[in-house]
Amino acid sequence: MAVLVTGGAGYIGSNMVLALHDRGERVIVLDDLSTGLRDLLLPEVPFVQGDIGDDSLLDQIFTTHAIDTVIHFAARIVVPDSVTDPLGYYLNNTVKAHRLISACVRHGVGHFIFSSTAAVYGESASQAVHEASDLKPISPYGTSKLMVEWMLRDTAAAHGIKALALRYFNVAGADPQGRSGQSGHNATHLIKVAVEAALGLRPHMTLFGADYPTRDGTCIRDYVHVSDLIAAHLCGLDYLKQSPKGFSVYNCAYGRGASVLEVIDSVKRISGVDFSVLQAGRRAGDPASIIADGQALRRDLGWQPCHDSLDEMVRHALMWERKRSNLQPYSHQS
Ligand code: UFG
Repeated sequence: MAVLVTGGAGYIGSNMVLALHDRGERVIVLDDLSTGLRDLLLPEVPFVQGDIGDDSLLDQIFTTHAIDTVIHFAARIVVPDSVTDPLGYYLNNTVKAHRLISACVRHGVGHFIFSSTAAVYGESASQAVHEASDLKPISPYGTSKLMVEWMLRDTAAAHGIKALALRYFNVAGADPQGRSGQSGHNATHLIKVAVEAALGLRPHMTLFGADYPTRDGTCIRDYVHVSDLIAAHLCGLDYLKQSPKGFSVYNCAYGRGASVLEVIDSVKRISGVDFSVLQAGRRAGDPASIIADGQALRRDLGWQPCHDSLDEMVRHALMWERKRSNLQPYSHQS
């Protein structure tokens, strides 16, 4: 049986495909290449360029390949963009997920893993959020993903598909073997932006908001290394195959936060470059602090993260960006 990875040419999806391939699983990738890159994929992995909302394409894929599991990454992911283009986000992230889940039901797919997000929680005060915390997304992005969780929960109950939603916190870093990492243009995510500034790929970076009620006034996030996130999916695959439960949801993060200033300090320290940081007002849709309680994932799925260090995430992000930009190898890499 095979695994269909939607968005498999993107940052997280391509790391997932590598891990499945390393484990000897049969993998098929569906990606529209709107942000993903074909060259992040191994040539031997079957690739279909297309839209997850295209019913006839989905029918063709499910008829051609014996797919037992879908891991669904394809989505739009920029929180402030979702504030200015909510309908675009609801179409891509919610309506098209409905098409994909419907195709899974039509074709008797047994297992579904969904990339959900910490943004389903919204403002979380100073408490670490756990899976049963209040769900009050403050961006259309968070709402667009939460609706998919609900669709999966109800579809699992009605149709027997076993589904797992993993709520990602702030994913960062790159494959430690240097095979894949964040590659899109017009980066908006903090670590990639800071790394680009450190490598001279942008003249400066901007810090959005220094007046939040946090320890240094800047937003706090729970950064998780992409390789640990992928390991959580592999645990999830094994779990789904044994679990009697129809639908489960888990946070995927380490349970401690770093502020924007702490991230910038780490990038400056590890790169050895004191790049310029401009200060601006708050960015729309940003909660002050969001930290996970990640115990349930460890307890129930046996997740054992190996890269729980902000400096390691930064080091791998720097290595990847240097490779991607054809810069000289980074002298401090380890
Ligand atoms: N930031 C800056 N300057 C930048 C980029 C980001 O100051 O150039 C700040 C943001 O304002 C925010 C923090 O860095 O305070 C983190 O921002 P990111 O854009 O890196 O990440 P987000 O927290 O907005 O979003 C990410 C994922 C979402 C996920 C969310 C959960 O993109 O999918 O984390 O917290 F939902």
